Amino acid sequence: MLKIAVLISGGGSNLKALLDAAAEPDFPAQIVCVGSDTDADGLEHARAAGIPAFVVRPRDFGSREDWGAALADEIRAHDAGLVVSAGLMRILPAGFVREFSPRLINTHPALLPAFPGAHAVRDALAAGAARTGVTVHVIDEGVDTGPVLRQAAVDVRPGETEAELHERIKQLERPLLVQTVRDIALGTLRLPGVG
Ligand code: GAR
Repeated sequence: MLKIAVLISGGGSNLKALLDAAAEPDFPAQIVCVGSDTDADGLEHARAAGIPAFVVRPRDFGSREDWGAALADEIRAHDAGLVVSAGLMRILPAGFVREFSPRLINTHPALLPAFPGAHAVRDALAAGAARTGVTVHVIDEGVDTGPVLRQAAVDVRPGETEAELHERIKQLERPLLVQTVRDIALGTLRLPGVG
C-alpha cells in the first residue's frame, strides 16, 4: 500500500477528494499525514479523518532550506512514499525536492507550461486565454516546470470571474488528482526515473 503525505495551504478540497477516495476499501494508497506552511482551513479535513496533521511555518526558520528540512523530517517520520502538493502555495526548496522528487507531485490550475506560478487562473483570464485547465506534474527544482503526468482542459466562459473559473477547474482537478494518485499506486502510471 503506497503511503502518501499531502501538503496544503488553503481550503483543501483536493485533499478532501483524496481522503474520500482513500476511505474506499479498494483504494491502493493510504494518506499517512497532512502538512501545511500555515494554519490552513483544510487541515480540519485531516483531523476529521483521524490523520496526523502538522504545521511547519517558514517564519520559524532562518532559511527556506531549513524550513524544507523540517518539513522533510515530518514526512520521513510518517514513511511516506509519495508527497502530493495539493494547493501548497510555497515553492519547495531545492534540498526538499532533491530528497523526494520524482516521488513528489503537484497539482496546478493551468495547462502547463502555460501560466506557471501562484496566480495561474488570474493570469489565464488576463491573457484572454480561450482554454485553460489543470496539470498534475512531477515537481523539479524549477517553478511548475517538472514532467507533466496528466492534464484536463476547460473552455473559459465570457465574463467569468477568477473564482468561477477556478471552481470549474477544481471540478476537473479533484478527480484527475485522485486518478493520478491511484495510477501511480497501482504502477499503471510510472513516475519518470522510477523503475
Ligand atoms: C488548487 O486549484 C491547486 O491547483 C492550486 O490551489 C488550489 C487549492 O485548492 N494550487 C496552486 O495554485 C499552486 N500554484 P484546494 O485548497 O481547494 O484543494
